[in-house]
Amino acid sequence: MNIAIITGASSGMGKEAAKQIDNIYTDGIDEIWLIARRTSRLENLSMCLKHKSRVFSLDLTRDSSFNELKLALNEHDPNVKMLVNAAGFGIIGDFIDSKYTSQSGMVRLNCEALTKVTHIVLNYMVPDSRIIQFASSAAFMPQSGFAVYAASKAYVLSFSRALNQELKKYNITVTAVCPGPVDTEFFDIAEKDNNSLAIKKYFMAKTKNVVKKAMIDSYHRKSVSIYSLPMQLFYILAKMIPHEFLLKIMALLK
Ligand SMILES: NC(=O)c1ccc[n+]([C@@H]2O[C@H](COP(=O)([O-])OP(=O)(O)OC[C@H]3O[C@@H](n4cnc5c(N)ncnc54)[C@H](OP(=O)(O)O)[C@@H]3O)[C@@H](O)[C@H]2O)c1
Repeated sequence: MNIAIITGASSGMGKEAAKQIDNIYTDGIDEIWLIARRTSRLENLSMCLKHKSRVFSLDLTRDSSFNELKLALNEHDPNVKMLVNAAGFGIIGDFIDSKYTSQSGMVRLNCEALTKVTHIVLNYMVPDSRIIQFASSAAFMPQSGFAVYAASKAYVLSFSRALNQELKKYNITVTAVCPGPVDTEFFDIAEKDNNSLAIKKYFMAKTKNVVKKAMIDSYHRKSVSIYSLPMQLFYILAKMIPHEFLLKIMALLK
C-alpha cells in the first residue's frame, strides 16, 4: 500500500496539500493519512477526498502521539511516497514580554516534532518518494519580534537541505518550503498577543498558490521552494547583505 502522510492537515497549507495530493495522484497513492489535533476538521476533509484516508487526532507535542503513529505504520507497513510536515505555529512579539510556554512550544512543534515525524516515517519511505517540510521566509535571517519562530524555521531549512543531500542516494527528495505571509489561520495564533507583522499586508500570498509551487518544486526535486518574487529577492538579499544592517532596516519598518 502506497500512502501520503500530512501533518497540520486540519487547516491552511496542510489541508491544501491534502487536497492537491488527492487531485494530482489519481494513481500511485492508495491512502492519505491526515494528522492534526482537531478531529472534526480532519473528518470533514477526509469526506471530501477522493482517496481513501485515515484520520489521526494527534497532538504532536505529546510523546504518546508518536507511539500511535509508529503503531499504525507498524500495523499497515505501507510505502510512504510522500510526507508533508505542515504542523507549526508562530507567536509574534518580543521574547522578553512573552510566555515561555509559547516560545518552547514553537521549538517543540516546529523543530522537535517535525524531526521526530521525519525520523519515524523515513523507515517506511521507498525510492522515488518525497518529503515537503514547511519552513518559512523567516528562516532567511534573524527576526526581532519573531525571534524564536525565525530560529525554529532556520532549523527546519538547514535540517531539510542537509537531509536532502543525505537522502539522494536513496532517491528521496526533501523540499523546504519558505513562503512569506500566507492567508491561513496562522495569523489568528501569531497575533494573539496583539502584535502584528509589518510586512504582512504587502506580501500576503494565497494558500493554493504557495502549495501548488511547493508540489511542483518537490516534483522537480528542488531543495528549496520560495513562492513569489519579493520572497525570492529577500532570499538573495539575506545572503548578500549583513544581517545586522537588515535587522536595523526591519526595526524601522515595525
Ligand atoms: N501562514 C503563513 O504566513 C506561513 C508562512 C510561512 C510558513 N508557515 C508555516 O507553514 C506551516 C503551516 O501553517 P499554516 O499557515 O497552514 O497555519 P495554520 O492554518 O494555523 O495550520 C497549522 C496546522 O498545524 C496544526 N497544529 C498546530 N499545533 C499542533 C499540534 N500541537 N499537534 C499537531 N498539529 C498541530 C494545526 O492543527 P490543529 O490545531 O487541528 O492541531 C493546523 O492544521 C507552519 O509550519 C507554519 O509555520 C506559515
